[in-house]
Order: sequence, then C-alpha cells, then structure tokens
Amino acid sequence: MSPDQSPHLPRPLDEIDSVVSERASRSWWDHDADDYHDEHGEFLGAARTGGEFRWCPEGLTEAEAGLLGPVEGKTILEVGCGSAPCARWLTAHGAHVIGLDLSGEMLRHGLRAIAGDDAPTPLVQATAEALPFTDASFDVVFSSFGAVPFVADSALVMAEVTRILRPGGRWVFSVNHPMRWMFPDDPGPAGLTVSIPYFSRTPYRETDDDGIVTYVEHHRTIGDRVREIVAAGLVLDDIVEPEWPDGFEETWGQWSPLRGNYFPGTAIFCSHKPG
Ligand SMILES: C[S@@+](CC[C@H](N)C(=O)[O-])C[C@H]1O[C@@H](n2cnc3c(N)ncnc32)[C@H](O)[C@@H]1O
Repeated sequence: MSPDQSPHLPRPLDEIDSVVSERASRSWWDHDADDYHDEHGEFLGAARTGGEFRWCPEGLTEAEAGLLGPVEGKTILEVGCGSAPCARWLTAHGAHVIGLDLSGEMLRHGLRAIAGDDAPTPLVQATAEALPFTDASFDVVFSSFGAVPFVADSALVMAEVTRILRPGGRWVFSVNHPMRWMFPDDPGPAGLTVSIPYFSRTPYRETDDDGIVTYVEHHRTIGDRVREIVAAGLVLDDIVEPEWPDGFEETWGQWSPLRGNYFPGTAIFCSHKPG
C-alpha cells in the first residue's frame, strides 16, 4: 500500500462529514424516539421485562440465530442500542452488557424499561466513531441497525470496535442490505424498480427549510463493507442474509412481504478479532 492510501478506504469525499452526520442523527433520533417506539416498540420488545433481541425487520432473533455465541458471563457492548431491548435481553441471559447510543431520548426509553428489569443494563451516551472504552475490554461487540448506516466514517467504527475487542472477540452488526440502496424507500410495487446507482456513495440526506441537514444515511457496497472490516484487522466469518419468513406479514417502513419475497433487506456481517 502506498503512503498516500488510507487503510480506511473507501471514504467518500462529501460535505456530509462526521460532524454533520452526528449532529443530524442525534437531533433526528431525539425527535423521533417517541414515534419510533409507538410504531416499533412492540415488535422490538422495548417495554418487555428482560427485553428481546431481533436482528432485523425480518424478525430474526438472537435466540434462533446464535450469532454472538454463548453469552453467559461475557462482557458485551451494543453500539447504537436505542432503548436497548437487545442489550437487556443479553443481560437477562447472564451477560455483562453496556448499551451505547448517540441519542439521549432513545436512551431515556431504555432507562424506563430497565427500571422494570431484574438486573440493570448500564447505558452510555456517545458516538460509535469514538468509543469511550479502553483497549481490549469486550468479548463481544454488536449492533442491530444502530449507528453503522448513520456514520460518515464506518471504517473508523470498525477500527474502534477492533481496538476495544479482546483477541478472539466477535463483532457482529446488521445493516440495510447494500443492494437495497438502489430502490426507493417504498414497501409497495414502486419499491421494486431500480432508481439509484448501486455504486453511488453520495449519502442520502434530508434538509429543513434553512438547508440544515436533519437526517443522513451513508451507503457502502458489499465490497466496501468487507474491505472496511478487513482493513480494521478483523476476520470476516459470514454475511447472513435473513430470508423473509413464510407467512410473515409485518411491515416496517420499506420492509414488506412483497419486497422480502424478491430480494434481501438486511445483511448481518459476522467477524472476529484474531488471537
Ligand atoms: C434504527 S435505530 C436502532 C436502535 C436499536 N438498535 C433498535 O433495534 O431499536 C438506530 C440507532 O442508532 C443510533 N445512532 C445513530 N448514529 C449513531 C452514532 N454515530 N453513534 C451511536 N449511535 C448512533 C440512533 O440514535 C438510534 O438509536
């Protein structure tokens, strides 16, 4: 690798950098926290004692998938935990878990739920691009649609996770399947027609009347994600593409039985730190 090549390639050159993305995401998720839980809280098990662990709108649970391996007694971090139903489920299953999220309002929903749990789950407010933990302090780090699609520098997240993992530790994260980028965010027939180039890394953004960025999503191709994982020094073990379950009728935003029958909506990247 020549000296001018970043080990964190690819990094899009765009005005939607880490500062802009973080500000937009914190504000968006703070304002959306109540609506998000009204709409999805039941599915997520957000208010359930002991939480629930779903990897994706296809409904795959960690109890079925076992992607984190045995968790009892393990030290685990959830990145982009929202109200932390997954972290709370792991606590109820004997792990020592911390939930981390950028949004104080998402975490506040979590605090209310934790008050009803048998064992507490500590929560931390921070960004995934600068994890406030010492090196080699976790056995497992994971994320269920938290943070990774919303940060400008997901390669930095991979590097940060690698830093705080112990040798042999796992990093597993679910995100929108990269091929979904090509289609409009529509659960119906309109969401079956390609409209955006797969290779366009220009972030999706929404702005207010003053031009302030209020919502951001960053795209990576499958190859980008693999390169970012490998560049961080991790070993990629699997990319799980959950299939739409037969007879499953739940719709979540752009996720629907119609689209689920044609193409994947979620990719779960499973990796580990050598050693
Ligand atoms: C779609 S929600 C998923 C929350 C939770 N994992 C769940 O399944 O309900 C995305 C979460 O990522 C968080 N997030 C966005 N950008 C982040 C960042 N830079 N660092 C940490 N969390 C972030 C948001 O605040 C939000 O809670």
